[in-house]
Amino acid sequence: MKHLLSIEQLTREEIERILQRTAEFKNKRGQISARPLAGQTWALIFSKPSTRTRVSFEVGIRELGGESIYMNAADAQLGRGELIKDTARVLARMIHGAVIRTYAQSDIEEFAEFSGVPTVNALTDDEHPCQILGDIFTIIEKRGKIDNCIVTFVGDGIANTARSWLFAAGKLDFELRIASPKKYQPKKKTLERAGGRVMCTDNLEEAARGADVLYTDIWVSMGREAEEARREAELGPYWINEALVKLAKPDALVMHCLPAHRGQEIDAKTFEAHAQTIFDQAENRLHVQKAILAELAG
Ligand code: CP
Ligand code: NVA
Repeated sequence: MKHLLSIEQLTREEIERILQRTAEFKNKRGQISARPLAGQTWALIFSKPSTRTRVSFEVGIRELGGESIYMNAADAQLGRGELIKDTARVLARMIHGAVIRTYAQSDIEEFAEFSGVPTVNALTDDEHPCQILGDIFTIIEKRGKIDNCIVTFVGDGIANTARSWLFAAGKLDFELRIASPKKYQPKKKTLERAGGRVMCTDNLEEAARGADVLYTDIWVSMGREAEEARREAELGPYWINEALVKLAKPDALVMHCLPAHRGQEIDAKTFEAHAQTIFDQAENRLHVQKAILAELAG
């Protein structure tokens, strides 16, 4: 594995290997003496805000023996129009890997191509692969497996997280249900590209019935702030609340990638009732990303 740019580009074997290494990194945190990133410096180049992703990568790189530099893309010459392919070729002379959070998926692909250094997608408008790998790990950790589970995604079904779930469903053996208004459902050609057992519906109750996991993300993703009022009106009924949880399996997991907006995609009571799962999910970002970095370091 040279880069981690999307779930779409991963093979099932690569996903399984990452998940297996994640368990090792989690169970043996602080006891592993190998330092696969020793002598390396990785750049975190972010064009959007972050709490979890930034901190988990910075801590993870340090725990693997490496150093990291955080670059706010707006403060770099990138923010004044320097081309990505030029930035990539300069940084490649200095750094050993890059973790990038940006808008266009094509920008991260271009960076990977022109830098040649291992490049990780820390969220684009298209995908959030590290998040969904951590979430899959969390489901397996709590339920023993994801095979034959029903994962119901509630809310913005074309958000980066939903799209990464969609491609994960094409690789692994679980059923994905996307409960969104028609306008926020993935396009037919994306569904065909992903494959897998996927059901898209605007019938929220139908999607939640018998689910093993109810999953949601914010209604207004980063970069979509201008659409806030419209999205709130259109996505209004698509939230996880106590009534919806009752339709799922009795021991269903409620998951949220965070940050959460209580009263929008999830109600406050449901969030607090499932806080243990949600914050375990957040912690697992650290462990899964260490597994990814170790894989990329070879
Ligand atoms: N879930 C997630 O990626 O959080 P941050 O935006 O805080 O990194
Ligand atoms: N869909 C959200 C995920 C945040 C972690 C966004 O892109 O803002």
